[in-house]
Order: sequence, then C-alpha cells, then structure tokens
Amino acid sequence: MKVIKTIKKMQSLSHHEKELRGTIGLVPTMGYLHSGHISLVKRAKKDCDLIVVSIYVNPTQFGESEDYKRYPRDLERDGKLAKAAGTDILFVPSNKEIYPDGYHTYIRVEELSGKLCGISRPIHFRGVAIIVAKLFNIVKPTRAYFGWKDAQQLIIIKKMVEDLNMDVEVIGLPTVREKDGLAVSSRNEYLSKKERKIAPVLYQALQKVKRMVDSGENNSAKVLKEAEDIIIKVKIKIDYLKAVNLTDLKDVKKIEKNTLIAVAAWIGGTRLIDNILIK
Ligand code: PAF
Repeated sequence: MKVIKTIKKMQSLSHHEKELRGTIGLVPTMGYLHSGHISLVKRAKKDCDLIVVSIYVNPTQFGESEDYKRYPRDLERDGKLAKAAGTDILFVPSNKEIYPDGYHTYIRVEELSGKLCGISRPIHFRGVAIIVAKLFNIVKPTRAYFGWKDAQQLIIIKKMVEDLNMDVEVIGLPTVREKDGLAVSSRNEYLSKKERKIAPVLYQALQKVKRMVDSGENNSAKVLKEAEDIIIKVKIKIDYLKAVNLTDLKDVKKIEKNTLIAVAAWIGGTRLIDNILIK
C-alpha cells in the first residue's frame, strides 16, 4: 500500500494507474476507520482494479462549535486497517494541500442541504460537497463508495454528481451495525459506557417504525410519535425524527416505499444519526 500526501502525486498516479489497470474505486473517509469503512473498501475491491482510500478530516464541514478539533485521529491504526482490507493507495492530504491560502470555492446543493442535518449544521453539506468534488477531481475514481448511514450526504453527493455531470458512479452501501443495533460511527468513540448502553435506542425506535409499517400503519405522525416515545424515555435529546421522501427530503404524511425514516439525537455531548429506508 502506497501512502500519498500531495495532490500532484495523487493526480499523476491516478492518471497512470487508470491507463495501466482500468477502474479506480475511491472510499472517502475522515479516518478512524471502522467496520463500516472496511465494508466499503471490500466492496470496492470486488468492483474495481485499484482501491484508493482517502483520509482527511475536512475542516469546512464542521461548524465553529462542533468537534473538528477532537474528532478521533489515528493514522497508524488506520494505515494498518486500510492495508489489511486491501487498499492500494492511502491518500492523506494536509489542510494546506486541500485549502491553500486564498481558497474560495464551495458547492451548495440547493434544496437538499438545508434539510434534516442541514438545519442544525447549516454549513456542513457545503463542506462535504466541496471536499468530495475535490477528491473526485484529484483521484478521478470510476466509482466512489459511501455508507447509507449518512443517507442525506449520499443523496446530496448523488445530486451533485448528476447536476455537475461528474463522470463517477456513486455507490451507497448498507449501514453496518454493532450486535445491539447501534450504527457504527467514528463518533461512537465519544460515548461513555453509560451512554453507549443507551445509544441503540435510536435503532430500536427505527425498528418500531418498521414493525408498525409492516403491520399496515402508514400515518407518519402516528408512527413517529411512537418512535419518539421510545427515545425520550431514556432522556436522549432529539434533534430531528422525520419521515421524508428519498428524492427531495421533504416530509411525507404517508409512509410508503422509499420513505426515509431519519433520526439525529444528542446522547450527552455526542450527536448521533441513524435511518432506515422503507422497502
Ligand atoms: O462521511 C464522511 O466521512 C465525510 O463526510 C466524507 C464523505 C469523507 C467527506 O469528508
């Protein structure tokens, strides 16, 4: 596994390798790799000839009061995990490489970026869109892999790719969960033992929604109220709990196929998100 730190080197290597080997699969990450990331790398390995994993904690997607500084970082550990999963190239740019002095360009995917997480994190998706666009320009992947856990991010990236005619296939893969249902996330690291114990309640609430829908209930307000009751019982502060349309993220009154049930909540000082898609 090669470790590349500069954009210039990454770009020329991608150019070469694409001609030499064929398809490039990119797994963009902010590091502190977990089984969710590894599942993306493994799938990319099945689909593509060369696998690039990027590790970059992107400052522009964090608000001022958010966790940019304390976001977990461990490059040595990440390197071992990425290599074991079959990564060919680890791209680890610095802030200076990505945002040199005088940097001014951002991308805002209108309509979608201000919904769900965008309400409490108004600049978040602007930062996500620009870093992903830059990574696409630098790595020139044939395919890029993202987890469904960050459903809004995935939908926004797909829209950006469509709207800007980017030549990359965006692939969303299922959320990986711990045994008790908690969606794996680098931010789970922040949870105290007590908080970790109650965190699966988000998934339990989503499962309650699924059971109600499976048994024929499709009234969103009714279903979401039951889910909310499960969450607030354990004194978790809900940021949002919504049933939305998958294409425009607008609230739906009736839950049907392709309705996304999405939740964000604060467990102590940690904000976690999760979702399920109604099939
Ligand atoms: O999902 C993430 O880890 C990040 O938002 C991403 C896509 C790597 C962009 O920084």
